[in-house]
Amino acid sequence: MNPDASLIFPQAFRWGTATSSYQVEGNLTNNDWWLAAQEGGYIYHDQSAGLACDWWNRAEEDFDRMADLGLNAHRLSIEWSRVEPKPGVWDEAAIARYREMIQGLVDRGIEPMITLHHFTNPLWMVERGGWENPEAVDWFASYAHKIVSALGDLTPMWCTINEPMVMIGQTYALGRWRPGKRDLNAAIRAGVNIARAHGAAYHIIHDQVEKAFVGFAKHMIIWEPHRLWMPNDWVAAWLVRLLFNRLFLSSVIDGVLRVPGRRAIRIPEVRNTVDWLGVNYYQRYRIRTKLFGGRAMFMELGTRPGILKGPGDWGEIHPPGLSLTLRHLWNKYRLPLIITENGIPDQADEHRPGFIVTHLHELWRTMQEEIPVYGYYFWSLVDNFEWTEGYDPAFSFGLFEVDFETQERQMRPSGELYKAICEAGGLTPAIVAEHTPALLPAVFGSVRA
Ligand code: FCB
Repeated sequence: MNPDASLIFPQAFRWGTATSSYQVEGNLTNNDWWLAAQEGGYIYHDQSAGLACDWWNRAEEDFDRMADLGLNAHRLSIEWSRVEPKPGVWDEAAIARYREMIQGLVDRGIEPMITLHHFTNPLWMVERGGWENPEAVDWFASYAHKIVSALGDLTPMWCTINEPMVMIGQTYALGRWRPGKRDLNAAIRAGVNIARAHGAAYHIIHDQVEKAFVGFAKHMIIWEPHRLWMPNDWVAAWLVRLLFNRLFLSSVIDGVLRVPGRRAIRIPEVRNTVDWLGVNYYQRYRIRTKLFGGRAMFMELGTRPGILKGPGDWGEIHPPGLSLTLRHLWNKYRLPLIITENGIPDQADEHRPGFIVTHLHELWRTMQEEIPVYGYYFWSLVDNFEWTEGYDPAFSFGLFEVDFETQERQMRPSGELYKAICEAGGLTPAIVAEHTPALLPAVFGSVRA
């Protein structure tokens, strides 16, 4: 091992964290996730986000924590249901508060990345058919226009829609998110409208923001066959890879949505509407086919003993999957990449330090291959509301632990580690030796100065 070797990232690299409006802001009751909690059956203990991390009143306290960590970037989202409580009615005070928050980041030397849509939809929008209604494209465009004209001077970094394929799959195909449909036609209709909404927002941002840099966040999963000797498992893994990882992504690059077994749908107006690709990377799943599972359940997720996996349905922790994904995306699309999310549910912070070091090691190695990655946004700064897992403590993602009774924050050891990394601009032997000594040989053993 060479003790002088350090894995230092480029000077301009963005070291960030990521959050979303409903998960942290508090007191949001005008969207479909709040409604899902009232209806029951979708969320852990039917919880709504409630006060969440109370960002509407105290975001700046957490911005100070970001500054103390040495971050130079943060990704956050605007809550559509808050700024447009009724169709065409704008809450100017709410927009002013967002302006104040985003200016607060800028003042601390933290570049904001603004996500326009992160899973939640206004109630008025879902009452009118949600994303299945083709008019949703215009509704979203009008919202995007309003927000970009109000905030566009504060940052060039815009993310249109978070994880469209997760939203489409969970809401319309797997039936896990409200209104819980299992209808491929509905999923395709929604998918086309979401792609169009993304495309419209892309052009709106470029029209209004000089030097705009626009992308969206794509959840990428490593899908592998569970039984390597079983051809059906290989076919299933290939199919899910195609549907989940590739379908939507290709549609906004080629302007054609190609659902297997269906006629291709041309959406030429969305062609080439990505300046950078956002990668949300968390896990690997193994697919196992079942012969007698019924139509919707012909496959299930398998796991292997001895491999670290997350709680519940969370998959395997697989750091090389990050470099595989980045390499694949770069080779296929030749677009700059940004890690818009990466993190682990781990309340005890037992695995998070190792998770951070191993994933950054993979990322650094990938960047040595001249693959352009412009930033890393860790999910998340603080524990927050985790969608269908609600406030299940097993799904705590924060560098800071949050006591939701008192709103107190406690920095986890992984917070100390991330601070050291951000301050150094990468991984040094001293940092790894201090925070994750067992990983020293794996990270530095093979590096030559
Ligand atoms: C992603 C979501 C994000 C967060 C993490 C854990 O899929 O985009 O809001 O819930 O998972």
